[in-house]
Amino acid sequence: MSASRAGRAALKRAKAPITGAPRTGGKIPVERPGPKTPGASSLPNRANPHLLNLKPDDETRMSPRVMTALGVGVLGISAYCGYLFASYKREVAQSQSLDIPRDVSDRYNHTAGTFDADVEMSEKLMRMGSKRKSLVQRARGDVLEVSCGTGRNLEYYKLGEKRGLDEKDRVGMRGCRSVTFVDLSPQMVDITRQKFAKLHPAFQDVVFRAQDAADVPPPPTQGKPAYYDTVVQTMGLCSMPDPVGTLRHLGTIVEPRKGEILLLEHGRSHYDWLNRVLDNLAPAHADRHGCWWNRDIGQIVRESGLEVVEEQRWHFGTTWKYVLRPATNS
Ligand SMILES: C[S@@+](CC[C@H](N)C(=O)[O-])C[C@H]1O[C@@H](n2cnc3c(N)ncnc32)[C@H](O)[C@@H]1O
Repeated sequence: MSASRAGRAALKRAKAPITGAPRTGGKIPVERPGPKTPGASSLPNRANPHLLNLKPDDETRMSPRVMTALGVGVLGISAYCGYLFASYKREVAQSQSLDIPRDVSDRYNHTAGTFDADVEMSEKLMRMGSKRKSLVQRARGDVLEVSCGTGRNLEYYKLGEKRGLDEKDRVGMRGCRSVTFVDLSPQMVDITRQKFAKLHPAFQDVVFRAQDAADVPPPPTQGKPAYYDTVVQTMGLCSMPDPVGTLRHLGTIVEPRKGEILLLEHGRSHYDWLNRVLDNLAPAHADRHGCWWNRDIGQIVRESGLEVVEEQRWHFGTTWKYVLRPATNS
């Protein structure tokens, strides 16, 4: 090649835009180890990987179909929330306009037949079965269950007294020697009686009575003062007109040293927002279901003067478990 042609070719190469890998004459460049300038990056001199992954605009944009579906979804959810809020406001207004007496316990005479079906789903969702079980299995000796309702605790009793270990591995008598079921509503007591006959046909030491829990006498005995060893009540304080007085009375018929009152109740929550909802809707709920669901169970227990052995709460604080005993100075 002549000198002038070679010069022109070199000029052309220098002006041409740089595309792709540098020409290496077919050889792959090799990184050679060797001294590096201090402060120089050890990363190979490549393009930023994030920038390499960038896609053109129309590939990242949401498709019109997805956007429409999302829009319809958001619209549907806001319409439903609006509907719920409007219904809640209407219910609250209606509830607050009612003048409901404190004693709504007569409602159970009408709702006894549907009670189980009404509470089944919510009890399952709240896993109330296991809470009932662990409480009721603690019952021993002569047992009284007040506000027994439709007998939702029946399957959990350990019937028949045996020598065994308690939950603290102490030897003693376990299980129930006798059980007395009491409820103000004769319709409720009838359902308990029928269920019991099916579940425990062989157990004879059982009594059923339609009676106010505040009037239950001590168990009959010959001569010496008689007491129940255990009193059980589940979801009862919400329904009675005088829950404090009733608890005090129960404290007088349970054995003073080792006797226990076992409660599983529902009432006020830990949270103000939830208590506001319970308060707002309480009159309508009491009128329909015979229960004041906004009662402060802790305060009722404190006012009763009974000694608290155990206390536990679940479901935002609305489900309360208590193990109580008569105060030692009483
Ligand atoms: C919400 S129900 C609970 C029934 C059952 N203990 C349970 O856990 O499913 C309340 C029950 O308390 C009864 N009750 C209300 N006031 C009572 C009272 N003063 N003495 C006895 N039972 C009462 C009602 O008749 C009703 O059966």
